[in-house]
Amino acid sequence: MNQLPIIEPFRIKSVEPIAVTDRAEREACLEHAGNNLFRLASNNVMIDLLTDSGTGAMSSAQWAAVMNGDESYAGSPSFHRFEAAVRKATGFEHVVPTHQGRAAEHLLFGTLVGPGQFVPNNTHFDTTRANIEAAGGVALDLPCAESADTREAYPFKGNMDLEGLERALLQHAGHVPLVMLTITNNAAGGQPASLQNLRAVKALCQRAQVPFYLDACRFAENAFLVRDREPKLAGRSVRSVAREIFDLADGCTMSAKKDGLANIGGFLAVRSAELAQELRQRLVVTEGFPTYGGLSGRDLEAVAQGLEEVLDEDYLTYRLASMRYIVQRLATAGIPVVQPTGGHAVFLDAARFLEHVPRTQYPGQALALELYLEGGIRSCEIGSVMLGRTDPDTGAELPAEHELVRLAIPRRTYTQSHMDYLIEIICRVWERRFDVPGVEITSAPKVLRHFQAGFRRLPARLAV
Ligand code: F0G
Repeated sequence: MNQLPIIEPFRIKSVEPIAVTDRAEREACLEHAGNNLFRLASNNVMIDLLTDSGTGAMSSAQWAAVMNGDESYAGSPSFHRFEAAVRKATGFEHVVPTHQGRAAEHLLFGTLVGPGQFVPNNTHFDTTRANIEAAGGVALDLPCAESADTREAYPFKGNMDLEGLERALLQHAGHVPLVMLTITNNAAGGQPASLQNLRAVKALCQRAQVPFYLDACRFAENAFLVRDREPKLAGRSVRSVAREIFDLADGCTMSAKKDGLANIGGFLAVRSAELAQELRQRLVVTEGFPTYGGLSGRDLEAVAQGLEEVLDEDYLTYRLASMRYIVQRLATAGIPVVQPTGGHAVFLDAARFLEHVPRTQYPGQALALELYLEGGIRSCEIGSVMLGRTDPDTGAELPAEHELVRLAIPRRTYTQSHMDYLIEIICRVWERRFDVPGVEITSAPKVLRHFQAGFRRLPARLAV
């Protein structure tokens, strides 16, 4: 007998229409947006894969919980439900609510990090890097060597480079206020860090007497992938694996817009009562009173319920099966896609996809624009537009390490047929890839240029 297909373990009670557009309409929209997908009106997008952050669908139980939100300024029972849910998932005693992940980072690094200090991570997300730098510190990226090769199918590309960490802890002894690990490693393709690697990082931190924190945005996806890929963990519940991972750490920052299954929210959770006290004092100045921290009571309720649902094994099985399905179909068609499957996004290797487009003509941006024109799909370039740097001596532009296009899949939002449509659009662009032109930048702000820059599509090259 055939294996049964894995179905979406939910049915749909409320729908949001998608405006179906044709290529001519999309050309006009893109022109108007300066060929920058961030500048498109989202109602002109058919399938929006710009981010998995805050874009998931809430469950009926979450919407019901929203109605129980208590909006009292102080002592809201909604906070106590939120605190209990965070404690249950993470085991951390002290819970500080924040409006989203970067606010938690701002509080933590503002408290622990100062000028001349170093914070190692597998790879810092842009906001963790920015908050460390804003506190005067240096953000060190120490991904494992396997993560550099987009073709390598190593199962734990989210691991930290242990030798690199050991060296950094020695070299900067006394100047490392904390070590962080991002699970899953978003910047490296949503790849998981193994339990073994997490344990080894913990041991190095203990030896150096440095606290160990997790950037836990996608903790449930990490725990699921670890359980799936570490044979010794077969038969364990994802919840218990997630808890074992949290047990290694001294605290975490969290954007509840990902594995909190909410549209907004976040928190900081720590073991130390003393640190929690200090964090709460800062919280009152910038975010709000310690029992709401920038969130409404109804948001706290939605996150509390979301943290329960995200560890549901049927949900995680469906989510990761759906990701695997996309990657396998694309790989079978010969399309350069980052392997193995990550937790929240599919990454196309645009440098190999559009091998006729030179790095100076931004193949990632060129491919992202083409996916929109072909099928109304909005993705995100993670390549030289976003991460390119200027050489301080020569003023020349240095390309990023990779030219990737990220297709981030919102949680519980799109169906299997949307994913089949996505695959078909990518395959069509692949078939006529040599017609896809490179792009040039026509205007760009000095910082975070990818959000606002204008682009021009260059005249198409003839097919070869
Ligand atoms: N850490 C990681 C690993 C993230 O991916 C993000 C957000 C944050 C921290 C910050 O959280 O947005 O709630 O302030 N990532 C989103 C993305 C924006 O599209 O990958 P936030």
